Amino acid sequence: MSLALPPLPFASQALEPYISSRTLDFHHGKHHRAYVDKVNELVAGTPLASAGLEEIVNASAKSGNTALFNAAAQAWNHDFQWKCLTPNGGAPKQAIGERIAADFGSYEKFADAFQKAAVGQFGSGWAWLVVDQGALRIVTTSNADTPIIRGQRPLFTLDVWEHAYYLDYQNRRADYVTGILNHIVNWDFVNKALQAA
Ligand code: FE2
Repeated sequence: MSLALPPLPFASQALEPYISSRTLDFHHGKHHRAYVDKVNELVAGTPLASAGLEEIVNASAKSGNTALFNAAAQAWNHDFQWKCLTPNGGAPKQAIGERIAADFGSYEKFADAFQKAAVGQFGSGWAWLVVDQGALRIVTTSNADTPIIRGQRPLFTLDVWEHAYYLDYQNRRADYVTGILNHIVNWDFVNKALQAA
């Protein structure tokens, strides 16, 4: 059974003006789809043909199959990313709001540290809020790399590949990060991820 491209959990214009429908149509419809198609092509006829995506990510990381890992990790990262976004963002609430205040001092301090990490990631990659051995941490990964192969549980991620923001922001990555953090983070999803971590 081949993997399917998961549909976006919101309409493609729902995140405007922070992410345009034009960006989402390319990002989800072309980039994300290409990663899913590549995984299906590479696992066809192998023991991983019927495996789930997270299993393929971990197996390819362990075996050193870089081509498969790059496609599978990118498919997983993008799938996770869409769940992290919503038109109804705002301030973090409930458990995650309390944990961010406890672990970073305040939401503002967290947002500042997250933005520095996202902007400071050289080249393509991802900025993440993860649970690592019980503590909240901000980490970055390069290219397709993903924290799930190191036992960290992601709560939130932001794609900082140029394809994620260049149509809307050109080289202004910091504005892209700020717009998302302050307006379109799906804190309900982040709370669910925190509960499950
Ligand atoms: Fe992307």
